[in-house]
Amino acid sequence: MKVVLATSNQHKIAEIKQIMGEDFELITLNIKVEEDGKTFAENALKKAKFAYKTCGMPVIADDSGIEIDALNDILGVKSARFMEGYSYAEKNKKILEMMNHVPTEKRSARFKCVAVYYDGTPHFFEGVIEGRIATQPRGKNGFGYDPIFLPYGYEKTMAELSPEVKNNISHRAQAFKKIAEHLKKNEKSVQK
Ligand code: IMP
Repeated sequence: MKVVLATSNQHKIAEIKQIMGEDFELITLNIKVEEDGKTFAENALKKAKFAYKTCGMPVIADDSGIEIDALNDILGVKSARFMEGYSYAEKNKKILEMMNHVPTEKRSARFKCVAVYYDGTPHFFEGVIEGRIATQPRGKNGFGYDPIFLPYGYEKTMAELSPEVKNNISHRAQAFKKIAEHLKKNEKSVQK
């Protein structure tokens, strides 16, 4: 099944391909919209509507980020814009510095993803993975804040987990598995 995915983030594209599997052929659409919404859902919908207008076909768009309880509102929907212009190695270093004195029990954090399938009507799908912030960055896989995020139940950071494991448990995996199920169900009901 062909689906349009409105993103230019190569890391996300690779992950979403692995998550959705071979039943889907993803056609990527590179759009730029200002992510000025107050929620992930608002931003995802804004991207999806713009992409739908651009290509005239149903589209998938998403917005995601990391929430770190000890750092209040610094990240969340602003995750991509935090310390803009700096590398993720520098951003992660800064976060760890800011959390230098934060004890283990207060290092709680989560990745969130809201994906929307927009065919003139929005259909929302969400994923959340809870964990905590490590004290040192570790691992080379993944992208962004993966080296400092320890998912609950794992001794490894998200960047130390293999792509197969990350793409089975992540916020993005949860949201896009739901989208895949929705699209397969819809396709069956159209064929009936
Ligand atoms: P988006 O492209 O607006 O969804 O921006 C998401 C931003 O949140 C990324 O640029 C990363 O900084 C962060 N982020 C989202 N998902 C992940 C992930 O799976 N690993 C690491 N960082 C992520």
